Amino acid sequence: MASRRNRRRDPSRVNSATHLEVRNLTKSFYGVPAIDSVDFDLRGGEIHGLLGENGAGKSTLCSVLSGLYKPNSGTVSIDGQAVQFRSPQDASNHGVGMVYQHFRLVDSFTVAQNVVLGMHKRQRPRSMRQVESMVADLAEEFGLHVNPTASIWQLSVGEQQRVEILKQLFRGARILILDEPTAVLAAQETDRLFEAVSTMVAKGHSVVLVSHKMAETMAYTDRITVLRRGVNAGSVTTADTTPAEVARMMFGDSAAAERTNFATAHDIGEPVLSLSGVSVQGDHGLMAVDDASFTVRRGQVVGVAGVAGNGQRELQEVIAGLRTPVNGTIEIAGTDCTTAGPKKTAQAGLAYVPEDRLGVGLAPGLPLEHNIVLKSYDRSPHSRRGVLSNTEIEKTMNKLVEKFDVRGNRSGMRVSLMSGGNLQKAILARELNEDHQVLLAAAPTRGLDMAAAEAVRAHIIEERAKRGVLVFSEDLDEIVKMSDVVLVMFKGRIVGSFASDELDLDEIGLLMTGSGTPDPAIQASS
Ligand SMILES: Nc1ncnc2c1ncn2[C@@H]1O[C@H](COP(=O)(O)OP(=O)(O)OP(=O)(O)O)[C@@H](O)[C@H]1O
Ligand SMILES: [Mg+2]
Repeated sequence: MASRRNRRRDPSRVNSATHLEVRNLTKSFYGVPAIDSVDFDLRGGEIHGLLGENGAGKSTLCSVLSGLYKPNSGTVSIDGQAVQFRSPQDASNHGVGMVYQHFRLVDSFTVAQNVVLGMHKRQRPRSMRQVESMVADLAEEFGLHVNPTASIWQLSVGEQQRVEILKQLFRGARILILDEPTAVLAAQETDRLFEAVSTMVAKGHSVVLVSHKMAETMAYTDRITVLRRGVNAGSVTTADTTPAEVARMMFGDSAAAERTNFATAHDIGEPVLSLSGVSVQGDHGLMAVDDASFTVRRGQVVGVAGVAGNGQRELQEVIAGLRTPVNGTIEIAGTDCTTAGPKKTAQAGLAYVPEDRLGVGLAPGLPLEHNIVLKSYDRSPHSRRGVLSNTEIEKTMNKLVEKFDVRGNRSGMRVSLMSGGNLQKAILARELNEDHQVLLAAAPTRGLDMAAAEAVRAHIIEERAKRGVLVFSEDLDEIVKMSDVVLVMFKGRIVGSFASDELDLDEIGLLMTGSGTPDPAIQASS
């Protein structure tokens, strides 16, 4: 953390001139304002954080600024000139570019092809060679390293995000709007992103940064604006404020400070998930999971710490029955599930909250009530003798919406129109509503505002009373806060195992980066 704080840039870099000015901006959907009479200023050379709870209107404000939505009323001006964007293309011509919460790249195209996609012929170089070399130069200039000739599907999430940013810079963006860019990034990638952002503002660009992460917002922004239920709750200079003040602006006086007490005594029961010598072949031929053995018991939260890309996804998938191990056995609540497949694994008692919640098991075009019963519509009480009961389905939905505080849903509205975080909450609610013995949750608080994240952590702890939990998160603090046992994963191996009363954060940090001393007990058992 200290190193980040040291990197905070010199405030004199920021111009006093306003680059982008928003006055009285309102955007409603079906008569309900998502943003309501919002004022907002962005100065030249500034990194401006945009915070607010799930559904507060952050993405909506950004989408108006980038020309995707037309406001119902209010004005936007750039360098003192009033503008009215007819489309994202139009905004782009005025130097405004946005990187969306969910990327919009064509998988089978190359980086360079994606960068010029949708650009008018007159605006882009004639040959792809030329585009490639210009993209390479831009990448070099801003430290956004990526191979211009690679196809999108070959790239990591972090690299794909760089392509999105390069795409905007290529079109001459001077104002960059980044909607939750770090939600999908590993810690090192986040550092690299902020280095690139620093380069941009040093060259006079201005950046709007939407984030749910207080620490990075405090470390990297010059000013912060908080949206609360569509209204601007205040703009403050980062150096003059505190996380507590910002949290109060976001949530009111009930500020969701760290309030869960996780240290309650509880009983530990029988094993509900046991892995013995499990190895999984990765997509590139190497062992993605290498000889993993561990047990989760009823009453326990076992947390897996590790930098993304060290086999966590493959480990989750093999437990969920989506992959078959090349070696070893997996048992769930007494049933051998080594080769059971996803359905039987679920029947044996596993609930799985995958990392890619939007890509797995969500029907974006259907309303919430149908998504909530996607896995249980053919069972009582949601259907009897093949007939769906809308009353029961609605009951389940209302119960979950209330329990998980899912906001912004309207009857019949397709879920893809809900805010990113509320969608996450809805999927979590559905999975946790399934009957299960062990919960496997990957990045359960990703995309959630601080209060919602805290509620989900509390819920996971609550699960522990009756079940076992295996949770993966890149956020070490979160893992440590929730877990009775912390496992560390590096290069496909479980390299450390710590009980909550013997946690050594330094040692865990070293193990996560491959420089610690692996636990001899674990070495011996594997
Ligand atoms: N196209 C749309 N149609 C209908 N309602 C919408 C649309 N876009 C956004 N909304 C609604 O506007 C409100 C604000 O949503 P928005 O996506 O701006 O929130 P957010 O602050 O970005 O939240 P999150 O942190 O969860 O991403 C929500 O209630 C959402 O359901
Ligand atoms: Mg959003």
